[in-house]
Amino acid sequence: MRTLVSGGTVVTASGSGVADVLVDGERIIGVAAPGSHAFAAERVIDARGRLVLPGGVDVHTHMELPAAGTVSSDTFETGTRAAAIGGTTTIVDFGVQRKGGPLLAGLDEWMAKAAGRCAVDYGFHLSMTDVTDASLAEMSEAVARGVSSFKLFMAYPGVNYSTDGEIVRAMRRAAALGATILVHAENGIAIDALAAEAVAAGRTGPSEHGRVRSPVLEGEATHRAVALAEVSGARLYVVHLSALQALDAVAAARRRGLDVHAETCPQYLVLGLDDLDRGGAEYVCSPPLRDRAEGHQEALWRGLVTGDLSVVSTDHCPFTSGPLDGLPAQKRMGEGDFRLIPNGLPGVEHRLELLYSEGVARGRMSVERFVDVTATTPARLFGLPGKGAIGVGADADLVVFDPGRRHVLSARTHHMRTDYSVYEGIEVTGKVETVLLRGEAVVVDGTYRGRPGDGRFVPRTRGEAP
Ligand code: URP
Ligand code: ZN
Ligand code: ZN
Repeated sequence: MRTLVSGGTVVTASGSGVADVLVDGERIIGVAAPGSHAFAAERVIDARGRLVLPGGVDVHTHMELPAAGTVSSDTFETGTRAAAIGGTTTIVDFGVQRKGGPLLAGLDEWMAKAAGRCAVDYGFHLSMTDVTDASLAEMSEAVARGVSSFKLFMAYPGVNYSTDGEIVRAMRRAAALGATILVHAENGIAIDALAAEAVAAGRTGPSEHGRVRSPVLEGEATHRAVALAEVSGARLYVVHLSALQALDAVAAARRRGLDVHAETCPQYLVLGLDDLDRGGAEYVCSPPLRDRAEGHQEALWRGLVTGDLSVVSTDHCPFTSGPLDGLPAQKRMGEGDFRLIPNGLPGVEHRLELLYSEGVARGRMSVERFVDVTATTPARLFGLPGKGAIGVGADADLVVFDPGRRHVLSARTHHMRTDYSVYEGIEVTGKVETVLLRGEAVVVDGTYRGRPGDGRFVPRTRGEAP
């Protein structure tokens, strides 16, 4: 079937203008002046007065992630449905190697969880929790299966943590394979010592989580990750960057021409340590929300404009506040010891609307840069062919977006499988209206019309540094 998205302002990373987009089957076959394709389509979507964006690409989500003795509350079915409603048509989630187990078993396990359930297209990174000769050898098979990026943790000793030596070994192997190393850059050894000291002194509440995980320790770890990548020759991608000290390390590396990239997330742009102090466990994530008075949020907005930050992803990792759908009150699990609170926040549904509203509508970034960091650059960096762009031959993943529509974010109306929202009551300007996934209208006027299994696994290439 041919679909015409007619008369909208088509936005790409390099420019915008009023145009028609003609879709045949799963692909875009034409982008041209309004009226030029009118004869050719069986279905017309009137996009006049709307923006037409490439479907969002969120390269950092955690559906059904086992953590802290529970599992993140969104399944691949519920979480990807929320992603679609929010205008994200591709996610890259994380398969996780079990300690002592083969790396590829993590991929097999996550492939089985996602198969036939997803509302949007999906790929995987692999979290390496056990760097051994065997798991290093398995990296080439992972790349051959379309998983060209591996996450290593400088945080969480005894759980996911890797030593600097292990990280260097993984980076050396990634460099040889043309793969990318993602790093969770917080100094976990120092953090755990400070956390133990806090608990021993009776400081056990959620706010302490934000105090012991100092931005200085994120900066130090990021600087170290850059050094390890430099000596290894690997491409480095710093995930969920939250602190200006970490941004400084990334900016310095990029000035020196190193193959170093970083993402931040809406929670670090919009929320602060004051939200953790007010909201408690529901706002616990790692790295933590940062003190607004220290200027992290402004630095991150600046980094997005200068290009020191390349991507905005969500690190969507939701848990429940009270019992929900058979799940326990997950965020209550650390009462009496903040170290036991499951880390992570919901957000996959709100990335485009929050960034458009807080970024574009407030004049902090251009609409083209918004498209770049939410779709085009993540697709290029992570080797997602056909994604993140509007052009002939690209996948027809399109979002019709009303830039003027104001609405309020709330757990009462969101679609993520959690009973609270860290963005509760925030009014945003701009709303996702209609979403095409490879030509199929999976969201129409804000209502989900797709089915589980619409989304396909996307084997990724090695990616390129834009
Ligand atoms: O708190 C967070 N970010 N939870 C998700 C896991 C991770 O480290 O990305
Ligand atoms: Zn992480
Ligand atoms: Zn994460």
